Amino acid sequence: MLRILSPLLATFGLFASTAFGALEVNLDDPASIKAAAALVAKDLLTFYHGDEPGWVPGILPGPPPDGDYYWWQGGAMWGALLDYRHASGDTQFDDLITTALLFQVGPDKDFMPPNWTASMGNDDQSFWAFSAMLATEIGYTDPPPDQAQWLALAQAVFNEQTHDDRRAPSGNCEWGLRWQVYPSNNGYNYINTVANSCYFNVGARLARYTGNSTYGDLATKTFDLIKRLGYISTEWDVYDGAHLPDCTDINKAQFSYNAGMLLQGAAFMYNHTEGGAEWKEALDGLSTRILEVFFPNGTAFEPSCESTKCNTDMESYKGYLHRWMGNSIQLASYLHDKLYPVLKTSAQSAVNQCTGGDNGRMCGFHWTSGVYDGATGAGQQMDVLGALTALLIPGVAAPLTNSTGGTSQGNVNAGSNAPVMPQLAAITVGDKAGAGILTAIVITGALSAFAWMSMDG
Ligand SMILES: *[C@@H]1O[C@H](CO)[C@@H](O)[C@H](O)[C@H]1NC(C)=O
Ligand SMILES: *[C@@H]1O[C@H](CO)[C@@H](O)[C@H](O)[C@H]1NC(C)=O
Ligand SMILES: *[C@@H]1O[C@H](CO)[C@@H](O)[C@H](O)[C@H]1NC(C)=O
Ligand SMILES: *[C@@H]1O[C@H](CO)[C@@H](O)[C@H](O)[C@H]1NC(C)=O
Ligand SMILES: *[C@@H]1O[C@H](CO)[C@@H](O)[C@H](O)[C@H]1NC(C)=O
Repeated sequence: MLRILSPLLATFGLFASTAFGALEVNLDDPASIKAAAALVAKDLLTFYHGDEPGWVPGILPGPPPDGDYYWWQGGAMWGALLDYRHASGDTQFDDLITTALLFQVGPDKDFMPPNWTASMGNDDQSFWAFSAMLATEIGYTDPPPDQAQWLALAQAVFNEQTHDDRRAPSGNCEWGLRWQVYPSNNGYNYINTVANSCYFNVGARLARYTGNSTYGDLATKTFDLIKRLGYISTEWDVYDGAHLPDCTDINKAQFSYNAGMLLQGAAFMYNHTEGGAEWKEALDGLSTRILEVFFPNGTAFEPSCESTKCNTDMESYKGYLHRWMGNSIQLASYLHDKLYPVLKTSAQSAVNQCTGGDNGRMCGFHWTSGVYDGATGAGQQMDVLGALTALLIPGVAAPLTNSTGGTSQGNVNAGSNAPVMPQLAAITVGDKAGAGILTAIVITGALSAFAWMSMDG
């Protein structure tokens, strides 16, 4: 149970009526974890206004400079809340989640809504696909039949990213997925780990869910490419990526979400192949190195930025890592004793520093320090929600497949076949819509340049 800690209020015996107090939890008691997670989820949603008049459903305030958050982080947040829902049984956010996900699907039902396409990265699109795939796997309520369906949405994103026009044409990194979808964006020539790991992850999950071997083949091909390029080192370090033409200028920055999504994808492939040796080797290597690199002293730490300054994107990575490790335990139960104790010590550190904000229980980002760092944010709340949720995940139903109760309707041909950025051809002088798109490209090009420099620096 959650206890109220404020000594002042305790002195006056005001326990029952107040909502003020540091976050507290007993990690040995699932009911206590759920109660704490419910508060963190509620506090997370204080950063969301998409259900209020004048705001756009689905997204967190942004993108900069209009607010702190890029489009993708909205998609990521719904995934965090879906995992929380599945792990806790708390369905109070269902309407919010469904409305949000469906609002951002776009006219081609592929998470490419026109407002955001000009700045679209393959990883951005994939984070929405992750949430649709998770909805599929947890048997989340299907949308009305006339709306996009969860499984088909994930297939749409995967199919579009399979297209050659999103990939390196030739040379050493041939077939590598580009970071950015459009040539106008900085990062188009960056063949990075996150874009390819996202594609691998969705492919592995589609393989297990549908049993269609095409997905497994493409996922395996991607994992092998990432390894061959040296983005996964022989020591199972996971680097950030490299540029065309030959992908040899490897940026060795390590970010926890890259390693986490590779681990989770490998766990899906391991489970799907009934313990395949290649995937066991990957799980063993990645999990050992993840503990060393991202959990110094048993608490999650983002080594490439945390001792200086992580940006708003990076501030949300720890939560994904925790959740995806919890999910990996479900799919490869032999990992339980290796990973679960660390997930627990890390979650305890996470909760310990949630003493901030007006309610006295908002979370910061620097878990290893033991004290609240003075800054709140959606990423900070998502991370702690993920850490708590991950402890419950191994105890609840494993991801469904289409033969074990999954109901979501798929479409193997989902997604658009149109070449990317067809709008450019249509732009003529005096075309207001076209002019708007061009302006958007110029602006987002600049924004992406900034993102690129910070990732690549
Ligand atoms: C696109 O932007 C317009 C104008 O801000 C907004 O009204 C609309 O809801 C947005 N749609 C999406 C899918 O973001
Ligand atoms: C699962 O999906 C695969 C590929 O889409 C299909 O061949 C198979 O019939 C489906 N199984 C069930 C039980 O629906
Ligand atoms: C795959 O996952 C299921 C569900 O958690 C589990 O029962 C099964 O043992 C897993 N398979 C392997 C090879 O670990
Ligand atoms: C881990 O603990 C060691 C020894 O106490 C300390 O020097 C180091 O700074 C800690 N690492 C982090 C990331 O807190
Ligand atoms: C398997 O997936 C591929 C790729 O999307 C698709 O072309 C093929 O039709 C699917 N096969 C079945 C049996 O669903």
